[in-house]
Amino acid sequence: MRKAFVAGNWKMHGSKASIMTLVSDLNSKVSEVGAIDIAVCPPAIYIDFVSRTLATDKISIGAQNMAIEPEQGAFTGEQSVAMLKDMGCNYVVLGHSERRAIYGETDAEVAAKVAVALSSNVTPILCVGETLDERESGVMEQVIATQLDAVISEVGIDAFDKVVIAYEPVWAIGTGKTASPAQAQEVHAFIRTKLAGLNAAVAEKVIIQYGGSVKPDNAVELFSQPDIDGGLIGGASLNADDFIAICKAAG
Ligand code: 13P
Repeated sequence: MRKAFVAGNWKMHGSKASIMTLVSDLNSKVSEVGAIDIAVCPPAIYIDFVSRTLATDKISIGAQNMAIEPEQGAFTGEQSVAMLKDMGCNYVVLGHSERRAIYGETDAEVAAKVAVALSSNVTPILCVGETLDERESGVMEQVIATQLDAVISEVGIDAFDKVVIAYEPVWAIGTGKTASPAQAQEVHAFIRTKLAGLNAAVAEKVIIQYGGSVKPDNAVELFSQPDIDGGLIGGASLNADDFIAICKAAG
């Protein structure tokens, strides 16, 4: 039985004032949520502020990205995995489609970052997903398999024991167009079956989150699918009531 995991990806949103309000609200409402794992991923500059403002150990902290270089050095503008860990991050989102599309991150770079995160015991939340074009032209499974294969060949299948996968169809991100529960389940099952072909025990255990316009009113149905183990939440994670309602739906 897999423990559900819901993470909020705040992306490049917030201010000290708005984050203070959001975290205070999460502090007071998180006790309503059952036994699931929860994380929030603030912009890097606010990680320390969030960690000092969070008054609950029910919510972990994650980063949204990380340097590919394993060690500190002359890499202006970057944060190393050790720095993230030092500031209290247990998770790091890697390979988000916005980083792939806007910043040109390649499958190979994402795979290398996954290896760096694992080497420091920071859990990668590895994002995979297809664009609308790719779905409509019938190469969806091939695209997702390629994204996964890059990581599998870098770290090996057994390492997926410590990897969280987030299936985020690009066309559903921030668009209000959620994948239907059946569409999402189909891809989640594809991912799990693919991993099972290499290591059945790891595939059975691996957490596969769904991300893309998850809201309180669609979360229950999405999370009730057999291979959907929680969500990676963008917009709705900026509102404590919505985020807590989504966490409850996973509980
Ligand atoms: P939205 O929930 O805003 O669609 O974003 C999803 C996402 O990209 C989470 O990483």
